[in-house]
Amino acid sequence: MRLIMLGPPGAGKGTQAEILRSRFDAVHLSTGDVLRRHVDTQSELGRKAKTFMDKGELVPDDVIIAMVEDELKGRKDFILDGFPRTLAQADALGALLERLALPLDAVICLAARQDVLVERLSSRWVNPRTGRTYNTQSNPPKVAGRDDDDGGELIQRPDDRSETVRRRLEVYDAQTAPLIAYYEQRGLLRQVDALAPIDQVTAAVIACIQTVGAGKHGA
Ligand code: AP5
Repeated sequence: MRLIMLGPPGAGKGTQAEILRSRFDAVHLSTGDVLRRHVDTQSELGRKAKTFMDKGELVPDDVIIAMVEDELKGRKDFILDGFPRTLAQADALGALLERLALPLDAVICLAARQDVLVERLSSRWVNPRTGRTYNTQSNPPKVAGRDDDDGGELIQRPDDRSETVRRRLEVYDAQTAPLIAYYEQRGLLRQVDALAPIDQVTAAVIACIQTVGAGKHGA
């Protein structure tokens, strides 16, 4: 399975990708999580990326494309979350997958209203070690402030401050939303209503994947 999860900040890309990862035993590659790990270890890439992430801007394409090429080495099945985010990144991914003879199965686009996205991000809590995400409104941990699996402390992401969220949503509209038409033209886009509860969104995403699978196997 080779999927892209597309959608604005807070739509639920990471939440759904994690659920699919455990159900389908696929690799979940979140460029945001990889970048945050680089920021935490203060690598050269991390120091460069932080200046963009803190402002809600995109990290430059050349940095991201090189990073993803590295992360995808030797992988045949993956769920991409947060990549591609620009037309240049989409073209680079297309060229890479063509070279590797690994065509994409589908691009799942999670759609939600802006007021809901802002609300979700302001109530999101994350395990910084694993990237597992909670929400105090819709998906709380069993013990407040603690991860269900390892009991570690949950944090709020610095870019979930309201002014940075507003900028991230503007950047999405300007630079990432054009990918909807890009993948629609290629017959890969599947739209899912991300306003529904998490389990219903998962069911809709799995229905999309099964449709693609049936098409591949000539059913
Ligand atoms: P990144 O980490 O990718 O952030 P994002 O795309 O803004 O997405 P989010 O993680 O905020 O949201 P999500 O859709 O995954 O939602 P989630 O599942 O957490 O990127 C961060 C930064 O890194 C970027 O701003 C940029 O600077 C840089 N970057 C990353 N990739 C890049 C790239 N390719 N190019 C350049 N720069 C890049 O859900 C949100 C909340 O809602 C959670 O609390 C969750 O529990 C809850 N929730 C989820 N689904 C539902 C539901 N159905 N109902 C109710 N609540 C729900």
